[in-house]
Amino acid sequence: MERLQKIMAQAGVASRRKCEELILEGKVQVNGETVTELGTKADPEQDIITVSGKPIKNEKKVYLMLNKPKGVITSSSDPEGRRIVSDFLKGVNERVYPIGRLDYDTEGLLLLTNDGEFANMLSHPKYHVPKTYLATVKGVPHGTDLDRLRQGIMLEDGMTAPAEVEYKDVDPDNKFAVITITIHEGRNRQVRRMFDAISHPVTRLKRIAYGDLLLQNLKRGVYRHLTPDEINHLKQMAKAAKPKANPKAKRQKPDT
Ligand code: URA
Repeated sequence: MERLQKIMAQAGVASRRKCEELILEGKVQVNGETVTELGTKADPEQDIITVSGKPIKNEKKVYLMLNKPKGVITSSSDPEGRRIVSDFLKGVNERVYPIGRLDYDTEGLLLLTNDGEFANMLSHPKYHVPKTYLATVKGVPHGTDLDRLRQGIMLEDGMTAPAEVEYKDVDPDNKFAVITITIHEGRNRQVRRMFDAISHPVTRLKRIAYGDLLLQNLKRGVYRHLTPDEINHLKQMAKAAKPKANPKAKRQKPDT
């Protein structure tokens, strides 16, 4: 038995708070009975729960990790007919949604789920789940350039929070460098804009970790189900994550 608002939020009806409002407004019925008490519990497997007369979907929850190839859009449809992430989810019968976004040209670890509450929790800017990228950049940035990224750098939408940045590989002819960067925000095209700001544009970008969850050797274009331990760990991590914004930051957009 679980609280009604939790079952509703998990089914993707709305956020838990909004579900509480729906209950208080008398819009929710359990087995035909209108419920207005917030403490009410129900069995998501057995009880028939309706909101404004419509039964909520009680799909099995699925949690996936996809190694998104570049040249694929993180969206459920594309008017221009480009490849979309669901093209890579053959065999998944549930309708899953990406948690955050990767740019068209970015590859790597993308989480997808049909658990609305889990997705909200992880993508909410307040939780600041760290994300790690492998960035190949033009030229070789100086250590002082990387220090600017570590301290926080001014972008057009404000200062970034401090990032962890390390050299991974440096071309002996100084044509490129491969750098790992961990950011704690998710602004639009943030990593690319951070490297633009130090005049070393990104030529290849791959997300290799989401929190402690590693992409490892999952093949490009292939997905796998997360293990129950991985799912619980991500939930704990989002709950434990402390706000880490740079005090000088103007605002943050959720995403990526
Ligand atoms: N930062 C970017 O610039 N692009 C992404 O896809 C993710 C993070």
